[in-house]
Amino acid sequence: MKNEIGIKVENLTKIYGTGENAVHVLENASLEVKKGEFAALVAPSGAGKTTLLMMLGCVIEPTSGKIWLGEELVWDEDHWSISDTKKIRREKIGFIFQAHYLIPFLNVIENIKLVPLVNGWSETKAEKKAMELLEYFDIKDKREAMPSELSGGQNQRVAIARALSNEPQIILADEPTAALDMERAVKVIKLLRKIVEEQNVAIIMVTHDERLLPYCDKILSIQNRKVVTTTPDQHLIV
Ligand SMILES: Nc1ncnc2c1ncn2[C@@H]1O[C@H](COP(=O)(O)OP(=O)(O)O)[C@@H](O)[C@H]1O
Ligand SMILES: [Mg+2]
Repeated sequence: MKNEIGIKVENLTKIYGTGENAVHVLENASLEVKKGEFAALVAPSGAGKTTLLMMLGCVIEPTSGKIWLGEELVWDEDHWSISDTKKIRREKIGFIFQAHYLIPFLNVIENIKLVPLVNGWSETKAEKKAMELLEYFDIKDKREAMPSELSGGQNQRVAIARALSNEPQIILADEPTAALDMERAVKVIKLLRKIVEEQNVAIIMVTHDERLLPYCDKILSIQNRKVVTTTPDQHLIV
């Protein structure tokens, strides 16, 4: 199943605002991440990492260019070529953020079941999936706990479990380990690595931590408003 497109971007341009206030973030940027590939996205603050992730997640509109998620063309130059961006987001994509954004008044398993239930899964199917994920992430005993009762690392594992609950083809992670110490960060990365390999998903993860790059297959960086692709060993030599 290797070599299938996970995420593909061609000549993507993003300009915020117009005229004197225009901010040119990306200009004809291209990239590709295959299914089963773990890509890191590294660039200085303000370079456009979050903007890129939000366009890939069908949250904000590009100015021009093309975006494919899997085989599906989702943005075609000046319009979404899919009828429902929310549906694509719910069904194809898992988001993980630096701050975990668990819903504070739902317990762990309710947080994980939420998106599958919104997607129309039955209670039985959602419950089964949530239990599988809790087991996988070794947090089954916390299933009834409220987010406020968990440690930072446990919260982040629940957030990752939740991102996987809809069986996404694509995971977009914006500094998922920034709030964790190195040992926990590596644990989270190894879990993501395992998911990439076992479930054939494509991941793009924004990170500032060079020590995590060896766990990734490719490095995307934003330079002069373009995306430059290298491998972890090339990156360390530079
Ligand atoms: N909604 C917006 N309107 C105008 N400019 C924005 C907006 N969002 C981000 N920017 C600008 O776009 C650039 C890229 O931002 P961002 O994608 O957040 O970068 P990064 O995540 O790499 O730090 C920055 O100059 C930022 O100020
Ligand atoms: Mg950012």
